[in-house]
Amino acid sequence: MQKFSNRQREGGRTIALVPTMGYLHKGHLSLMVEGRKRADILIISIFVNPTQFGKGEDYQEYPRDLTRDKKLAREAGVDIIFAPKTSLMYPPDYQTWVEVREVTRNLCGASRPGHFQGVTTVVAKLFNIIKPHIALFGEKDFQQLVTIKRMAADLNFDIKILGMPTVRENDGLAMSSRNTYLSPRERESALSLSRSLRRARELVSSGERNTTRVIEEIKGIIGKEKLINIDYIKICDTDNLKELKKIDRKAVMALAAKLGQTRLIDNCILKP
Ligand code: PAF
Repeated sequence: MQKFSNRQREGGRTIALVPTMGYLHKGHLSLMVEGRKRADILIISIFVNPTQFGKGEDYQEYPRDLTRDKKLAREAGVDIIFAPKTSLMYPPDYQTWVEVREVTRNLCGASRPGHFQGVTTVVAKLFNIIKPHIALFGEKDFQQLVTIKRMAADLNFDIKILGMPTVRENDGLAMSSRNTYLSPRERESALSLSRSLRRARELVSSGERNTTRVIEEIKGIIGKEKLINIDYIKICDTDNLKELKKIDRKAVMALAAKLGQTRLIDNCILKP
């Protein structure tokens, strides 16, 4: 992979990378379409990264279908799929980790200890292996995007990190490979997540600036759904992810919830 990328760079060609864990959906495809436009060579990685899953999480069950992914990637104009074996990414003597501190403390970082360390470690490795000029990530994983931007800046990766808007199903559900776990009843309940985010946006555009009041209303909407257990609903500064008392600057409303065993996240940007 490194030799291939070196040759492209020596030939003056630019490389775009879309890192994924596979089981591609329209959210991934939108990243690929953008990557295709922004560089000469489009590479995607498909690697279900064990180090970002905690104990009792869905590493084993995570959906995998490389044959289907290859077809979708080809249709999207992908030049190379980098799909390494786990034992090559993490040989038995592996012992190096990348940790981004402040922005990973809150939100999913609080509920999933070690998760972001796994993400930044594997993304740093992918950057060094694939050597892209630009890497594209979905805004659905907002904290992941902020964390990777921080890592790239702090560790001087010469790579542009581009966030792309969340892609949703027609009924509002944010695209996620984990949506395949949902039963029809759970899926119906899950719609309250995007509905509540829309309501938060309405509240803020009609002048509400108090985060507690917005969060309480949103908790009320989601709380009506018996199948949902809320993990967190928070309104944070988009740059440092610290919680805000007042929506007096660009903010992100981020939430995580469980439907049965399935953990879903979603977010929206609130602008005063
Ligand atoms: O967003 C994902 O699919 C993963 O967290 C990533 C960035 C591919 C790292 O494993």
